[in-house]
Amino acid sequence: MKYHKLVENAVKPTGFWGNLMIRSMNKGHSDLTDWALCHIDIKSGDYVLDVGCGGGKTINKLADMVGSGKVYGIDYSDLCIKKAEKLNHKNVLCGKVKLSQASVSALPYEDSKFDHVTAVETYYFWPDKLNDLKEIFRVLKPGGKLLLVFEMLKDESNPDKWKKVEDRLKIEAVSREGIYEMLDRAGYLNIRTYVKSGTTWLCAVAEKE
Ligand SMILES: C[S@@+](CC[C@H](N)C(=O)[O-])C[C@H]1O[C@@H](n2cnc3c(N)ncnc32)[C@H](O)[C@@H]1O
Repeated sequence: MKYHKLVENAVKPTGFWGNLMIRSMNKGHSDLTDWALCHIDIKSGDYVLDVGCGGGKTINKLADMVGSGKVYGIDYSDLCIKKAEKLNHKNVLCGKVKLSQASVSALPYEDSKFDHVTAVETYYFWPDKLNDLKEIFRVLKPGGKLLLVFEMLKDESNPDKWKKVEDRLKIEAVSREGIYEMLDRAGYLNIRTYVKSGTTWLCAVAEKE
């Protein structure tokens, strides 16, 4: 029962269990995020957006990487935005980090604003994945890159690996080929996918021309 309450709050954290889930995600996704961030070259001055920012740990890492740049974060959970603001309060105060409650399907930014967009462990929940990828494409600068990060990679040798979570949350683990195809259909170029050996970690980097 407790396990179910916690897991269900990965979708849109709220209330007591949402608080616990946010703490657990900030900790549990940190190594995965560090590994994935090695696959893009964030430079001082860059504008970066983190989609589905949860409790804001990735925002925290990105703020250290952008130097004189800025980090934006969106999440459709009000609680996540509050928690992410608390974790990043100094950078929020000085205007280096800006967080907004919003959906990936309608990003509150003008076209071609960002050098990079990151999305850690959130794609599974998006309502209209192809159009949501196109919406991210819209806000990327030409030459800008999207980094998608996953822990739930399908495992052919163990097809039931994610079944419990998939059934409970009504989501689906991803495949390397499936993600490549979606990025391709959404108009991205130079798509690369990486799997960390011995794990089910997958990240994809894709570019807007
Ligand atoms: C599993 S959590 C991951 C959070 C964070 N990226 C991390 O790695 O700790 C998924 C997050 O995506 C957010 N999310 C899910 N669907 C969303 C949507 N359509 N628009 C914006 N945020 C969404 C949830 O509110 C939640 O914070």
